[in-house]
Amino acid sequence: MWKKIVEGKTRLLIPEKGKFGRTKTGRLRKPPVFYNPRMELNRSVCCAVVKALQEKEEIFFLDLLAGSGAKGIRVAKEAACKVHLNDANEEACELIKKNAELNNVNVTISNKDANLFLQENRSFNFIDIDPFGTPVPFLDNAVMTSSGYLGITATDAAPLCGVYPRACLRKYGARPLRSEFCHEVGLRILLGYAARTCAKYSKGMQCLLSHSTEHYFRAYIKLLEGKKKADAALEELGYVYYCKNCLKHEYEKGSIASKKCKCRSKYEVAGPLWRGKIKDDDFCREVLQKSEYLGDKKLAKLLEIVAKELENPFYHDVHKICKKLKIEAPSMEKIIEKIEEAGYTASRTHFSPTSLKTNAELPVFLLGTKFA
Ligand SMILES: C[S@@+](CC[C@H](N)C(=O)[O-])C[C@H]1O[C@@H](n2cnc3c(N)ncnc32)[C@H](O)[C@@H]1O
Ligand SMILES: [Zn+2]
Repeated sequence: MWKKIVEGKTRLLIPEKGKFGRTKTGRLRKPPVFYNPRMELNRSVCCAVVKALQEKEEIFFLDLLAGSGAKGIRVAKEAACKVHLNDANEEACELIKKNAELNNVNVTISNKDANLFLQENRSFNFIDIDPFGTPVPFLDNAVMTSSGYLGITATDAAPLCGVYPRACLRKYGARPLRSEFCHEVGLRILLGYAARTCAKYSKGMQCLLSHSTEHYFRAYIKLLEGKKKADAALEELGYVYYCKNCLKHEYEKGSIASKKCKCRSKYEVAGPLWRGKIKDDDFCREVLQKSEYLGDKKLAKLLEIVAKELENPFYHDVHKICKKLKIEAPSMEKIIEKIEEAGYTASRTHFSPTSLKTNAELPVFLLGTKFA
């Protein structure tokens, strides 16, 4: 029922799917402890991030919703960091203990409801929130009790990307947008929500690194103390306006307005969302350096593209624009070269392989340029 695997430099005992019998209706019973192999990259990035932070200050890492302990144990072993793991599931805690022994790491473990645990324990300077779905129920207590860093995962990509707009409004108090750049909108809605949560407790935030991968979003946030920092973070909130007709998008500070695009179509609006930086370039380079020891190609590829990505919100889907303009899509290299020749900047984006970020008005630019 249990098997040994290796993730990064860590050995893990995990539940084997399909080995836990069947329910009365004949369905395969879920394993008693959660482990998702598709989250390996999430855990690898986290190890590299903590390793980079450890160089600057001593980190006490809390794996708040630890499951099998895969993340916390890897951080303890691979970033050589002090770690506490918590999970409400008793069987998860038993497995965490075995995984700690398997790797010879000295960690502490608790079996408590996450919010209760946070209220009673305030000594961590990195809190990792890796829930089923939305991190919203844990953010208030995490922000309230910590003065360091937060690692936040959201696997509720469908509401954040606009498939279920009402769910997004309920959870995040923000309007999402079904569009070709919905992943960046989703990530920024999550960050905007984090900034609003921080502000409630007179804290601001800096986003050190963030990514959108497969079915989830992940953000690394540095909490900043004080009302001024909180006000400054709120200044970074705004809205994105999107014209479905000509695929143009604009973003703006402040409150929602009924606006029209130059083509006279009515804009669709998403937000409030984070307009500020979604990474710190120096920090990204440090994490990339730290990740090299893992020899994980996927990890290096993600970090390289994130590090080189322009900050300009939001990305443009070249294929979608070209289809609309009825022109053949040029290669990404060629279009980036042309944009740069014209004196603008452009980069690929980790959000989508067919998209790029630029300070040029891309639909207009593509229309005016002969790529054939
Ligand atoms: C997505 S899993 C964590 C996965 C893990 N971080 C990893 O990388 O493998 C979420 C975990 O949160 C635990 N959990 C859910 N609600 C909780 C709560 N209110 N308090 C404590 N643990 C909770 C579940 O038992 C589950 O193990
Ligand atoms: Zn328009």
